[in-house]
Amino acid sequence: MTRRKLVAGNWKMNGTAADLGEATQISMAAETADGVDVALCVPATLIVRACTATPGFAIGGQDVHAAANGAHTGDISAAMLEDAGASVVIVGHSERREAHGETSEAVAAKAEAALNSTLDVIVCCGESLDVREAGHAVTNVTDQIAASLPANADAQRLSVAYEPIWAIGTGKVAGPEEIGEMHAAIRSKLAEKLGEDAANAVRILYGGSVNGDNAAEIFAIDHVDGALVGGASLTAAKFVPIIHAATGRSV
Ligand code: PGA
Repeated sequence: MTRRKLVAGNWKMNGTAADLGEATQISMAAETADGVDVALCVPATLIVRACTATPGFAIGGQDVHAAANGAHTGDISAAMLEDAGASVVIVGHSERREAHGETSEAVAAKAEAALNSTLDVIVCCGESLDVREAGHAVTNVTDQIAASLPANADAQRLSVAYEPIWAIGTGKVAGPEEIGEMHAAIRSKLAEKLGEDAANAVRILYGGSVNGDNAAEIFAIDHVDGALVGGASLTAAKFVPIIHAATGRSV
């Protein structure tokens, strides 16, 4: 089955109104990116303005609370993200798993809340360097993804992002064999949990130091259906070449 590639940017805790011009330029490149979906997950404070600046372009959030509303100071619900104009949300990023103690069960509940709204969801997983060096990366990641899948998984609206923690923001990229092995293992785990057809519809993104120079090689690997991009999504100059690589256009 052919899956459309998805290139999603993750601005993390970066960006103010002064950076919206970058979002506009990225959205213009996305318009002409044939056969590729592009999204930009910006800080919550920028969602409304980014949506206004980029009509028709997919703006996303970076986290969502599992509950619909209530006494959760500092959190944001799926309905709030929708209301702000977001169409997608990232859940379970390793930075949240590590810094905020999010378990896979909590991530599954967040993904469920997103899918109960109109939001698409990108569920992240990835192993630490210790786990990789101990030879447990595949088991660790497939266990993580199995426990992070929402009960209401809808393959058309669900993507998985494999992001080895040691490759995030470090300039180190997993090798093609490591990526290929992990993406195939994730696909098998999805088939076990969701059935073969659904598993074949889920997009599996790679993340971790993706840039304009390495993107084409990464996109050529089996079961790589796009990328989740941090640092290189902050400017159009760095992000647009990755979008072009996903279209197969030379950069
Ligand atoms: P990076 O971040 O591209 O800066 O490595 C990726 C991510 O954390 O999503």
